[in-house]
Amino acid sequence: MDRKRILTGDRTTGLLHLGHLVGSLQNRIRLQEEYETFVLLADVQALTTHYQNPAMLKESVYQVAIDNLAAGLDPDKVTIIQQSRVASIAELTVLFSMLVSVNVLRHNPTIKTEAAQYGYHDLTYGFLGYPVSQAADITFCGADLVPVGEDQLPHMELSRKIARRFNELYAGGEELIKIPQALVSDTPRLPGLDGNSKMGKSLGNAVYLTDDAETVSRKIQTAVTDTNRIAVKDRGNPDICTVYAYHKAFNSGEYREISEMCRSAQIGCVACKKRLAQKINELFDPMRERRAYYNQRRDEVRALILNGSEKANRIGDETMKRIRAAMKLEI
Ligand code: TRP
Repeated sequence: MDRKRILTGDRTTGLLHLGHLVGSLQNRIRLQEEYETFVLLADVQALTTHYQNPAMLKESVYQVAIDNLAAGLDPDKVTIIQQSRVASIAELTVLFSMLVSVNVLRHNPTIKTEAAQYGYHDLTYGFLGYPVSQAADITFCGADLVPVGEDQLPHMELSRKIARRFNELYAGGEELIKIPQALVSDTPRLPGLDGNSKMGKSLGNAVYLTDDAETVSRKIQTAVTDTNRIAVKDRGNPDICTVYAYHKAFNSGEYREISEMCRSAQIGCVACKKRLAQKINELFDPMRERRAYYNQRRDEVRALILNGSEKANRIGDETMKRIRAAMKLEI
């Protein structure tokens, strides 16, 4: 039997960070053998916020691909896709858009949060509708499982609703379109260095997968801790500490001990941060090697993306044939 499929993606608006790593990348890497895995470089979705400067997206397409490869995705196993090259995603987006009301999109909590972050008041059709396009990303290849961060759950719910409605309307309830399942990681949301509830590219509070050892150490030293803890002799509360949240995510061997030591004032914040930075750097070291490899082989990366996109087009064209037939669009 064919393996089940994973599809997930990243907007190509810049470099990936620790939040992406624990929210989605680690699951992709863990499951790449078991599932046929598709990774989408979401450059069309990136346009929803960066349409004024599309030239910048080109470099990001490479960088996000390299971020994924450096993190440990095996190019012989996974299919890397440039979203704008896949015609069926655009076609499905249009067909799906009939089934989604503007009000449902307006009330989507992730859209609301992001609109506020970007300072948008009068939303473009493309931005408001990107969750519909995301449903097309996921369903063109019939993905079973979608590794995502917690903020993507409203979009997953919408994808499932669209797929169900589509199947009811055009396939008598049969699974013409696969109903996808979200896979949320154990660390579904990583706080930012500034203590903001989410690490984000546009929030200026991220540790990037590309950061060198010194930058990682420096950034971690700036991270917000328990603000009630002023002197080393004060007892700390790890439950409200960003650095402790990172220890939990990146220092599985030591985080319990660290919690005890913080509560009993046996370790100070500077030392605690040093330990954390060391762990993150150990995690990054093999990624740095792979990144250096791919950075020197851009042609290889380009070929991977082009081949992956072609494969996606073949799969998507088959999907569209079945959909056109089911919708009686064929004349
Ligand atoms: N919206 C996702 C994010 O911001 C990126 C994305 C685009 C995606 N297409 C997708 C995620 C399809 C999962 C599946 O992280």
